[in-house]
Amino acid sequence: MEPPMSEYYEIFEEFCGVLMDKRFTKYWDDVETFLARPDDLVIATYPKSGTTWLSEIVYMIYKEGDVEKCKEDAIFNRIPYLECRSEDLINGVKQLKEKESPRIVKTHLPASLLPASFWEKNCKIIYLCRNAKDVVVSYYYFFLMVTSFPNPDFSEFVEKFMQGQVPYGSWYDHVRSWWEKSKNPRVLFMFYEDMKEDIRREVIKLIEFLGKKPSAELLDKIIQHTSFQEMKNNPSTNYTMMPEHMMNQKVSPFMRKGITGDWKNHFSAELRERFDKHYEEQMKDCTVKFRTEL
Ligand code: A3P
Repeated sequence: MEPPMSEYYEIFEEFCGVLMDKRFTKYWDDVETFLARPDDLVIATYPKSGTTWLSEIVYMIYKEGDVEKCKEDAIFNRIPYLECRSEDLINGVKQLKEKESPRIVKTHLPASLLPASFWEKNCKIIYLCRNAKDVVVSYYYFFLMVTSFPNPDFSEFVEKFMQGQVPYGSWYDHVRSWWEKSKNPRVLFMFYEDMKEDIRREVIKLIEFLGKKPSAELLDKIIQHTSFQEMKNNPSTNYTMMPEHMMNQKVSPFMRKGITGDWKNHFSAELRERFDKHYEEQMKDCTVKFRTEL
């Protein structure tokens, strides 16, 4: 059941033209003035685009394929989520300040809201995106399992997504903002669908972007450790270490399906037509092309 709009806006607010969780914007100064270090690596995504998958691959690269080191802590502690803040419970900025270099920084911010220091220090950035229809499906289930979020029905949620009335705002603006940055050689622009199609090719791309040499042994280890099934069963990647009162995985698991094309099981013909038409309008000036099935 969709809560009244007033309830929705008790949790979220328009912030610099982007709908954001109010708990995050309350301490925005901390985010805006964040001091990057030149060897920071940023992993930027719109929510539900494969952030956790990419993060675990990158962490494996940093730890040279040492699975035990990757299991030492939950992914959300190993790779802090920059803007995430929940009063005293979670504080991404604080976690990052306490980390030794080289740090890996997770963010869902559009390029325009990334703290300036990352650009000034010329940090490497990886942006991963996923086709909008699979993102909206994944985001819908995420809404159901995050206990503090409202529970809309699917078609209402798609409507909100199209209007940019979901946290992190318009998917279209987000992707466009990062696509414009992808001309910068310090920014690697990647697609979830490419990773699903040929993970070895994409991991090689990542290793080379990070200035390392891909060995067959390292590639095999990474691919094995970061498969969907492996990550689903791994407590340090499947978010079961997140308290149940925050994420109720009985409603929907964080590692849900991990496929391309699940939108076909959720969109009616009419909804698909409306969505596609709106998509064309939104993305008409943008050259980025997505695949919605493999
Ligand atoms: P689904 O809900 O479609 O299954 P994020 O980490 O950005 O929140 O993205 C979550 C999405 O990535 C979920 O999609 C999740 O199942 C999928 N995912 C996580 N790990 C994956 C993996 N190793 N391989 C493929 N997809 C993965």
